Amino acid sequence: MQIEKTVAGVKAQVREWKKEGLSVGFVPTMGYLHEGHKSLIDRAVQENDRVVVSVFVNPIQFGPTEDLESYPRDLNADSILCEKAGAALVFAPEVSEMYADNFTTFVDTSGVTEELCGKSRPIHFRGVCTVVNKLFNIVTPDKAYFGEKDAQQLAVIRRMVRDLNMNVTVVGCPIIREEDGLAKSSRNTYLSAEERQAALVLSKAVFAGKAMIADGETDGDKVLDAMKQIISAEPMARIDYVEMVKWDTIEVHHKVDCPVLVAMAVYIGKTRLIDNFIQE
Ligand code: PAF
Repeated sequence: MQIEKTVAGVKAQVREWKKEGLSVGFVPTMGYLHEGHKSLIDRAVQENDRVVVSVFVNPIQFGPTEDLESYPRDLNADSILCEKAGAALVFAPEVSEMYADNFTTFVDTSGVTEELCGKSRPIHFRGVCTVVNKLFNIVTPDKAYFGEKDAQQLAVIRRMVRDLNMNVTVVGCPIIREEDGLAKSSRNTYLSAEERQAALVLSKAVFAGKAMIADGETDGDKVLDAMKQIISAEPMARIDYVEMVKWDTIEVHHKVDCPVLVAMAVYIGKTRLIDNFIQE
């Protein structure tokens, strides 16, 4: 497996593959890879001739008070996981390789970015769309793989790809959970043992909400109230949001009469965790 630090190096390799008629799958990540990322790489390996994984902690998607500096990094472990999973190339650029000093061009997607994480992290999706656009231009993948754990991000990327006529198929992949239900996340490493236990309220609320809808409940407020009660019973948890939105437009919608996303962001101590379920 090849590890590339430069844009030119990735472009040259992908050009070779394309000349040979090989398809390219792409998994964009911020590294510190876990089973959730591995499931994306596994799927990409199944569906493409060559797979590129990017490992880049993208500074422009972090707000000034967020965890850019402390975000966990381990390129060595990430490379081993990628190689074992069958990736052909890891793209791990320095910030200076991605952003020149006078970088001033951004991709801004409106509407789908206004609720949920877009409300509490105002510049986040502009940073995500900009870097994903750049990465798509560098890797020129046939298919790109994103986890449903970041469901709003998936909806935003789908919208950007549609609106800008980008030549890539976006594939959404299911959330991977620990045995006790906690959704896998690089940020779980921030949790103390006590916080790790408290964090289970997120998946408990997700499972409860899902069960209510499976039992026929269509009133979104009742579902959300029950979920909020579960979370609020945990003293270490502080709700950022628990919300129901239309899955395609991310507009607030409190009736289960179309595909909906039920999503939450909850602080456990200082760590902000997200979880969700999609009701198609
Ligand atoms: O989901 C992530 O890890 C990031 O937001 C992404 C898509 C790699 C862009 O930096």
